[in-house]
Amino acid sequence: MKKALLIAAALATATSAAAAGKLEIFSWWAGDEGPALEALVKLYKQKYPSVAVDNATVSGGAGTNAKAVLKTRMLGGTPPDSFQAHAGQELIGTWVVANRMEDLSGLFKSEGWDKVFPKDLVRLISTGSKAWSVPVNVHRSNVMWYNPAKLKEWGVTAPKTWPEFLTTCTKLKAKGLAAPLVVGENWTQQHLWESVAIGTLGAQNWENLWAGKLKFTDPKVVGAFTTFGKVMDCANKDASGLSWQQASDRIISGQSAFNIMGDWAAGYFTTTKKLAPNTGFGWAAAPGTTKTFVMLADSFGLPKGTKNRAEALNWLRVLGSKAGQDAFNPLKGSIAARTDSDLSKYNTYSKSAAADWKSNKIVGSLVHGAVAPESFMSAFGTVIDQFVASRNSAGAAAAAQQLAVRAGIGK
Ligand code: GAL
Repeated sequence: MKKALLIAAALATATSAAAAGKLEIFSWWAGDEGPALEALVKLYKQKYPSVAVDNATVSGGAGTNAKAVLKTRMLGGTPPDSFQAHAGQELIGTWVVANRMEDLSGLFKSEGWDKVFPKDLVRLISTGSKAWSVPVNVHRSNVMWYNPAKLKEWGVTAPKTWPEFLTTCTKLKAKGLAAPLVVGENWTQQHLWESVAIGTLGAQNWENLWAGKLKFTDPKVVGAFTTFGKVMDCANKDASGLSWQQASDRIISGQSAFNIMGDWAAGYFTTTKKLAPNTGFGWAAAPGTTKTFVMLADSFGLPKGTKNRAEALNWLRVLGSKAGQDAFNPLKGSIAARTDSDLSKYNTYSKSAAADWKSNKIVGSLVHGAVAPESFMSAFGTVIDQFVASRNSAGAAAAAQQLAVRAGIGK
């Protein structure tokens, strides 16, 4: 009896010691971008109450700042236990090829994720039979946002093509609107370029570009740069100082009519600004991209050599679970990556995105890591900056083509 008690006591101590763990997760979801992640952390804490979670964030849209900090930590041998990365080439072309990530295919099997995540998405986060990150959502990049009451006041509707956008822009300028389009800092301009390029070239040519079958120097792509320049002539002159949230604010206030941004803007409008879809804010596919869904997915991976591997694996289990995805996504503006999510928990915007995700042609986002490695992406920012300053389409196309060759695109 005494012995049994001792064993029980010893076991209890062992369990609590194991449970009193730590977990550091790393992302760029700070401030306004935080609530969805906090909901996920809350769920994790309910399941693992004795684990102290360090929700480390480096703010800055699209992870521009966070990715730089992550690099120093990865190279310095102090990786976070799990970090945010876009599904696709962003992670695979950097930390996977550098052999810094753990293969998660075992986790995918034991959690039955092979069956609940769409096959194409699993392919995007994999090389061969190895899976490198767990997707928490699907975001759409090609969305045009506006304020319905303001468009009515100005007597315009959301343009369906880029030429129509330019006509609407002229009309709004004549009504005294200095900047019919609002853009923000550099990455949001790249984001706009992506929508202009897909809306001008079409989805198939976009895929050809990343397969190396269409060159940036092709007249079609040079033409997309020229259209982008004309679109930028409709934009605010103080773009470089604006975050994506500040750009979104200008739609609501009526300082500008349109903004092209991913559907984290829907999360911002509903969760932070408490606006209702269709009345507080409106949306349409970016001009020329109706029936095309430009996708990206946020995911978390497991770096090799983390301090709290068991806790990190449990974190990944929570974020890949149905409960996790349906806690996170209604606040984030994205839809669940899982196919079995409970749509009744989502608002009208997200329901429309979920329907489009099923019926549209799906292509990957450049700016948010799906189609090109980070080496291309980070340098492409300079191409856009130079183009915005010079409006030299042929020069920008030639520079982008050089980057593509160097990054091994299409190889
Ligand atoms: C994207 C990311 C989104 C959102 C956005 C703005 O790259 O996938 O979840 O955070 O940046 O920061």
